[in-house]
Formats: sequence, structure tokens, C-alpha cells
Amino acid sequence: MPSSAALLQTQAYYSTAWAAAAADPARFWGDYARQFVWRKPWQTVYQADLAKPDIAWFSGAELNITENCLDRWAQLQPDAPALIWEPSHPDDAAKTYTYGQLLSEVTRLAAALRGLGVQRGDRVCIYLPMIPELAFAVLACARIGAVHSVVFGGFSPKSVADRLQDAGAKIVLTATGGHRAGKPIQLKNIVDEALLSCPGVSQVLVLNVPAIPAPMQPGRDLDWATTLADADANQGYAEPMEAEDMLFILYTSGSTGKPKGVVHTCAGYMVWAHFTFTNVFQYQRGQVFFCTADVGWITGHSYLLYGSLLAGATTLMFEGVPTWPTPARFWQVIDRHKVDIFYTAPTAIRSLMAAGDEHLQGADLGSLKVLGSVGEPINEEAWHWYHRNIGKGRCPIVDTWWQTETGGIMISPLAGVTPSIPAHATLPLPGVVPMLIDEHGAEVTGNPAQGNLVIKQAWPGMMRTTYGDHERFRQTYFSAYPGQYFTGDGAMRDADGNYRITGRVDDVINVSGHRIGTAEVENAINAADGVTESAVVGRPHDIKGQGLYAYVVYANPPQDHVVAHAQILAEVTKQIGAIAKPDWIQFVPGLPKTRSGKIMRRILRKIAEGDTANLGDTSTLLDPAVVDAIAQHRLT
Ligand code: WT7
Repeated sequence: MPSSAALLQTQAYYSTAWAAAAADPARFWGDYARQFVWRKPWQTVYQADLAKPDIAWFSGAELNITENCLDRWAQLQPDAPALIWEPSHPDDAAKTYTYGQLLSEVTRLAAALRGLGVQRGDRVCIYLPMIPELAFAVLACARIGAVHSVVFGGFSPKSVADRLQDAGAKIVLTATGGHRAGKPIQLKNIVDEALLSCPGVSQVLVLNVPAIPAPMQPGRDLDWATTLADADANQGYAEPMEAEDMLFILYTSGSTGKPKGVVHTCAGYMVWAHFTFTNVFQYQRGQVFFCTADVGWITGHSYLLYGSLLAGATTLMFEGVPTWPTPARFWQVIDRHKVDIFYTAPTAIRSLMAAGDEHLQGADLGSLKVLGSVGEPINEEAWHWYHRNIGKGRCPIVDTWWQTETGGIMISPLAGVTPSIPAHATLPLPGVVPMLIDEHGAEVTGNPAQGNLVIKQAWPGMMRTTYGDHERFRQTYFSAYPGQYFTGDGAMRDADGNYRITGRVDDVINVSGHRIGTAEVENAINAADGVTESAVVGRPHDIKGQGLYAYVVYANPPQDHVVAHAQILAEVTKQIGAIAKPDWIQFVPGLPKTRSGKIMRRILRKIAEGDTANLGDTSTLLDPAVVDAIAQHRLT
């Protein structure tokens, strides 16, 4: 059965395990994987050809991840809390589901989905607020072998439609609405609008949230409660899946305008989620784990749901936001549910730090044992504030570096076992063999070092393909350094081998820990009235880490800048969602381009940052004068 204990409990054991996994991955992961429930054993632990790329783990095996998340624990500890749900409003009642109850909820929904004709391999789009049904939906798909594609509730109808079409989903699971910071969000309306351009979707299962009614479309929309009540209870069994069958698709932004569907498969992902959860957080039986990420992002998949449930932990799902009704909300939740492990993003830490320490008055926080950070580099000031004020100086902080593509944590301290260093993700986990590459494409050996971060060996949790486009997978991750996985991040390594992630080196910007592709935002801006072209770059932002700075060119300069500004924001919200709205918009006469027409983003980045004295050589530009014009009117 999957263990609830961390394997690596001392630094010496970490070092031995890292060396063992690097030297003989098949042996290391084969030994590790024995603890899970398999319907059929594997024939080969792994085959990986990263040049192709062709990656398979535990081939020949059959399993169902939900038997490992739910059934085993429901047998062993049926009354242990599996899921605690804390609603957005502090006066509303929390709900707790034991392992026994969670299994029965998931089984019921699985039966209902089978009853609707959803089959193994079908793609199911999930667009739900952060409520227990979201967890049931994800797990019910996994139970029947349907591929879940969770779409974050903040995305616009167009983004939802793009994802539905790309995945070829026939069914959407949604709710009439949800709550965000005291305001109702009309989710069903967004789905209705998205479906205008998705003729392939024939069914929408709608959870009725009574406070937020929505019209139902007869013949297409089905009421959640009645569908469940009508389902045949015997149809909720777990489908035996092949190790390399798809478990889910999760869309993420890349360098091009089109989001890519990151594909994770059943067995390797399961092993990686469990291994990283138990070891990084040094989870101990009975602990309560609070991950503040939305299930719409990979952190919500791998730790709020899969990793914690695989370990038999109690996972806490919070519908709310950190600052509503007050910036004390997280601390109330931690005290109310006696949270042991708290995992959040630097942007949340910075906004709570900025809100003032008075919001910590009356917070006990005595239950906390481990703190985690994820999604973007955490600056030293925020790290120390987190350590001192939330961890009271006694909780190790794990700064966990990873990506949607990696499935789980890759570089991180092991809480209280290996040293935590402010602003450093520190050491690679066993199975992760990183290297740094210089500008000539050569490996930088020795320490200290700096370069592009690349991973040399396959690990169980890595993505297997880009949905429907394997060539794009190869091109994006394995073509810069053939035979190796390129992360898109830059990093430094100190004298002791600790990694510090410096940020993206491609056209992706991390805004509040969310990945935004500059090309996507530019496409949206270009759709606004009168715009000829635009360029978006990142600029340091006190709370968000990076903010979006947009340079926009109009055919005829806009009469009214306030109106033009509002139109651009509206267009971005419509095309992508509010999360991609630029923080700064500068109207410019033109963009700095090379003679071949390539936009010189390096120059635009420097101007945005205010470093106008060091723009480098601009003489090779098509129109060098444009640079001065832009620099003169830069926004502060
Ligand atoms: C990108 C991946 C990991 C789940 C949430 C984000 C950045 C992530 C860290 C960290 C510095 C980090 C990287 C990475 N990032 N964690 N601890 N320190 N940077 O997943 O949306 O796929 O984004 O987030 O730039 O490439 P994602």
C-alpha cells in the first residue's frame, strides 16, 4: 500500500538516494513503486529516449490511481478526514469528508458519468469553483479512466472554448456559479458562451448553486443532483488503466500564442506525486495539509489532490482568497483547522506582508510545522517575513521549483532534513539530474555556475506529450539541447551545489505565479480597435513578482488614451481572462525591430525596467530613433 511516511528522513539518506536514483533509475523507482496498489505488475520500469522523445514508465502495469488515493485508505482509515472544505465566507460552515465518504462521493459521480456514456479515454472538461464537487469530479474521471482537463475558473469564454476544442471534449462539468471575494461569479454563463463555438460538446452537467441561478438548455444541460440520484450505484467501479494511459491534460502558456495541452499519464505521475509530497513536506500521519493553489493549476492537481490523498493525508481546500474579508483570512483558516503544512505562492506572501503585521494579531499559528513556497522565485524579504511571522522562526521553508510539465516538485529542500536557504530552491530530488548550459550550448561544470536549466534524465512524473501534437512537444522541450529536457528557466548554482532559479529565459512571464505567454497577450491586444501591433514584456512588480508592460502601436494615435486603455484591458479580459491584463500600457509610435523584422524585446525590457542608460547597440535597428521616442515617454 502507498506509505504515509517520508522515505528520506536524514540528509545522509537523501544523498545516498539521490546517487542511487541517478545511477540506476530502474532499480530505484522499481523498488519505490512496489508500495502502490497495482492490478497488474509492470514489465519494464522505464524506457526513455529523450531525443525522440519517447518516454514510458512502468510499462505493462495496470492500476487505477483512485484505488491508491481512496480505496486503500478507506479500508485502513475510513474515518480519517480526507478533505476539509473551507468556504469563501468565514461565517459559512466548513465541511469534512472522511476517506470513506470521499470514496463514496467519487464512486457516485463516477457511476453517473458512466451512465451518461462517458468512456475510458474520453476527455472531460471541468470548469468548477473551488468546492468539494471539483475534487469529486477530478477523481471520478480518473476512476473511470476519462481524461480530465480542468480549466481555471478565471479564464474567459474564448479560453474555455480553445481548450475544449483542442481536447475534443464532449462533456463539461460545471456549476451555475461560484464566489470570489464576496462576489458571485456566473460560471454557467461563461460555459454557455464558450459552447457557441464548440459543437462537439453535447452534454453539460451543471451543479446548481442555489444562490447563483442560471438558465438550463434542455437536451444539453443536465442537473447534477438528479443525474447522480438516477445513476446505477454499481457503475462506480475503478477502471483498470494501463500505466501510460492519459490521466489528464492541463493547458499552460508557452512562447506561441496557442496554449499547449500538457499530458500526464497514470503510473509515473502517481509515483512522482506521492514521492515528492511525502518527502519534500516530510508529511507525517494525521497531518493537515493546506495548499492554497486552485485545482485549475498543476499545484492543485499534484498536491491539493493527488499527492496528499495518495499519502492518506487530510487536505484542505479553500474557496476564498487571502485578503477577503480581511488579510487575516489564511491565518483564521490555519487556526480553525489546525493546519500542519501550509503551501502558498510568493505573491500571496508579499501581498499579506504589504497589508501589515496587525492582521497577524490574535493568530496563533501554533499548529504549523512546515511552510512551502511555489510558482515563482521568492525574494529574500518575503522569505524572512514568512519564516519569522508565519513560521515563528521554527518552521522550515521549502522553496519548491517545478513546472506544469514536470508533474511534481523537482528542486527543493526536504523540510527540516536538508538546509533551507532564503531565495534558493536548493537541491534536486532523487531522480532529478539537473545541469546548467552556457550561451554556447556547453554544460557549465564546477561550482559556482550559472546558465540555462536543463534536466538530463527522464523522471517518472514528466509530461509525455503535448496533446494532439507530439512534434510540438519535441520542438518546445527537446530541440534546444537534443536529448535533454529544457526547462525554459535560468539558474545559478552556488559553491555547495544549491540551485537558485533566476526566472524564465523565454517569452513566458510569471505573473503572481501564473504563467502568461507574451504572444497570447499580444494577440489579444492586437484585436483591440485601431491597434496595429504590440509587444509585451515583464517588469518587476512589488506584489506580483513580475507585471506585464505592454507597448502598443496604433494606426492613428488614439484620440482618448483613457478609452483606448480601457478597450485594451477589456479585449484581454475577453480573449484570455482578467489574470492577463497588462499592468502598464504605453502608446508608442513604433517598436524597435531588427532589419529582418524581429522585435528587440531585450531593449523593451530594459526600458520597462527603467534601465534606459544601458540599451546596448541600437544602430543595427531598422529605425533607431524609435528607441529614444519610447524611452522618453516610459511609464514609471
Ligand atoms: C514556472 C512554471 C510549479 C507549479 C506552479 C507554476 C516558475 C515555479 C518556482 C520557484 C522560482 C519558480 C519557473 C517555472 N517557478 N516554482 N520555487 N522558484 N521559480 O507552474 O505555471 O508551470 O510555471 O514557474 O519559472 O518555469 P507553471
